[in-house]
Amino acid sequence: MARVALIGGDGIGPEVIGAAAEVLAAAAAGHGLDLTLDHWDLNADRFLREGVTITDEERDRLIGDYDAALLGALGDPRVPGNEHTRDILLGLRFGADLYINFRPCKLLVPALSPLKDPDPATDVVFFRENTEGLYVGVGGSFKRGTPDEIATEQSVNTWKGVDRIVRAAFGYAAATGRERVTLVDKANVLLHEGGLWRRVFAEVGAGYPGIVRDAMYVDAMAMDLVRRPERYEVVVTSNLFGDILSDLAAQVTGGLGLAPSGNLNPGSWALFEPVHGSAPDIAGRGIANPLAAVGCVSLALEHLGQGEAAAAVDECIVASIREGVTTPDLGGRATTRAVGEWMAGRLRG
Ligand code: NAD
Ligand code: IPM
Ligand code: MN
Repeated sequence: MARVALIGGDGIGPEVIGAAAEVLAAAAAGHGLDLTLDHWDLNADRFLREGVTITDEERDRLIGDYDAALLGALGDPRVPGNEHTRDILLGLRFGADLYINFRPCKLLVPALSPLKDPDPATDVVFFRENTEGLYVGVGGSFKRGTPDEIATEQSVNTWKGVDRIVRAAFGYAAATGRERVTLVDKANVLLHEGGLWRRVFAEVGAGYPGIVRDAMYVDAMAMDLVRRPERYEVVVTSNLFGDILSDLAAQVTGGLGLAPSGNLNPGSWALFEPVHGSAPDIAGRGIANPLAAVGCVSLALEHLGQGEAAAAVDECIVASIREGVTTPDLGGRATTRAVGEWMAGRLRG
C-alpha cells in the first residue's frame, strides 16, 4: 500500500495537481498498486484565513505518514513576504533533509524547442543542492527603510552538504551510463565556496575514472545551455544556480509546462513538484499545462518502486504531445483537465 499526499498550493497548483492525481490514480489502478491519495490544504488561502502556514505536527505527519507528496506550487501576490512558501516548501525540503533537487530536462519532441536546430538527443539532468547555499536564510538587515539600509544574505556551503550532492550526481551518472558530469559555479569570484566545491568535485570524481569531469562558470553555462545543450548530461550545482539554470534548460527542452522535479534523500520520504510556479497570470482559466505535474507522477511512481507504471506515464506524456492533446502553451486547445482525463483514459486502456 502506498500513500501519497497532494498539496495543490496556490494559483495553477491545484489545477495541475488535480490532473496529475487523475493520472496517478489511473496508473496505479492499471498496475495493481494499492494507493491512497489525500488532499492537504496548505496554501496562501489558509495562511490568510488562519494565520497558519504549516504546523510542526502537520509537517511531521506529512513526512512520517506518507511515502511521498506531490506539490503544485506556492506563491501568491497577496502574500508578498512569501512566508507560507518558506515554511511549507522550504520547510519540507529542509525538515526532511531532501538534499537532492533532481531536475531532468529532456527534449521529448524536438519541435518543442525554441532553438533553431535542436539536437534530438538533448537530455540534461540537474542535481541542484537543496538544503544550503543562499537559501538558508542566514543574514539580516539594518536601518531598514532608510537610505543607510544594509541587507546581507549569506551563502552557506558545508563539506558534508557539497560532498553528498556531488556523490549523488556521479552515482546517478554511473548508474545510468552517462559519461559527463559538469560542475557549475562562480569559482572565479566566489572563491570560498568555489574552492570547496571544486576540491570536493575533483576528489569524488576521481573515484569515477570513466566519467568526464568538467567545470563551467555559471554565466558561460547560461550561454552554453542555449548554444549546445546536448553537450551536457549531468549538472551538479548550488541551490540558487540550479534554480535559475533549471528554468532555462526547461525552456530549451519545451517550456516550464513540461519540467518535473523531485526533492530527494535516497531511501526516505520524497517531495515532487513541477519546476514552474503558481503562474498567477493564467490561474483559474483551465489552461495551465499539467504535463510537468504528470512528469512528477512518473518520478513519484519510480520512487515507489513502480518502474513500469512510471514508464507508462512517460509514454503517455509523449503521446499527448504527438497527438496534439495539449494546452495552448504547447500549441494545443485542450484544457488542463481534458489533458489529464485523456491521459487517465489511455492508461486505463
Ligand atoms: P511561474 O513559473 O509561475 O511562471 C512563469 C511563466 O511561465 C508565466 O508566464 C506562466 O504563465 C508560465 N507558466 C508556468 N507554469 C505553466 C504551466 N504549467 N502551463 C503554462 N504556462 C506556465 O514563475 P513566476 O511568475 O516567477 O512565479 C509565480 C509565483 O510562483 C511566485 O510567487 C513564485 O515565488 C512561485 N514559484 C513557486 C514554485 C514552487 O512552488 N515550486 C516554483 C517557482 C515559482
Ligand atoms: C523552485 C522555486 C522555489 C525555489 C521558490 C518558490 C522558493 O523557484 O522550486 O524552483 O527557489 O526553490
Ligand atoms: Mn525555481
